[in-house]
Amino acid sequence: MIYSERIRLRRNERSDISKFVEWLNDPEVRRHLSMNLPISQANEEQWFENMLKLPASEQPFGIEIREDVPGVDTWRLIGNCSFMDINWTVRSAEAGIFIGDKTCWNKGYGTEVMRLLLRYGFETLNLNRIYLRVDEDNKGGVRAYEKAGFVHEGRFRQGTFRDGKYGDVLIMSVLHSEWNLGKKAE
Ligand SMILES: CC(C)(COP(=O)(O)OP(=O)(O)OC[C@H]1O[C@@H](n2cnc3c(N)ncnc32)[C@H](O)[C@@H]1OP(=O)(O)O)[C@@H](O)C(=O)NCCC(=O)NCCS
Repeated sequence: MIYSERIRLRRNERSDISKFVEWLNDPEVRRHLSMNLPISQANEEQWFENMLKLPASEQPFGIEIREDVPGVDTWRLIGNCSFMDINWTVRSAEAGIFIGDKTCWNKGYGTEVMRLLLRYGFETLNLNRIYLRVDEDNKGGVRAYEKAGFVHEGRFRQGTFRDGKYGDVLIMSVLHSEWNLGKKAE
């Protein structure tokens, strides 16, 4: 487990699959995800088996929040996040996240997950550059990543196609040196 103030990240279990199928079939949740077509339980079971074959550094984490039950340490799954395409020569990785439980949007969890992934990526995996791609019109995502310390780096023009229209995809990143400076400023 990897902990921060209100969340923890843990490895995915087979028992998570049905939640993922439910969330990833919700058009609002998958709207800005790269895999934006409907999925089945069998698709997700296949994803899970393939995921187990990935290097440990690229296996996703379930995002859990602490339930407000006095005296009991209970955690609830709300989404997933991961590093992908780690390049050990340049020590870079792409970060990805989805919060499937929509009641948890706009409560600062996305920002907190990204901050935690940055700490894990820089301090545990010894990465030097962490980047992500986000649809320009995913305003909540862009804002969350800015709050976590990601800076705007570039754009794929007409990099996505949705509802019959092209849209731009933004590239945002954080370098280890910038993240260290941010830590000192805290
Ligand atoms: C994108 C996502 C991870 C963001 O997580 P989150 O927990 O909702 O984000 P946070 O609450 O930390 O931050 C969101 C910020 O955007 C703001 N925001 C939300 N919608 C906005 C809009 N339409 N315009 C401007 N700002 C907006 C919120 O007010 C908040 O900023 P604030 O704290 O300054 O008020 C989450 O919404 C999600 O998983 N969505 C579905 C899947 C997805 O899009 N994944 C990302 C693909 S790159």
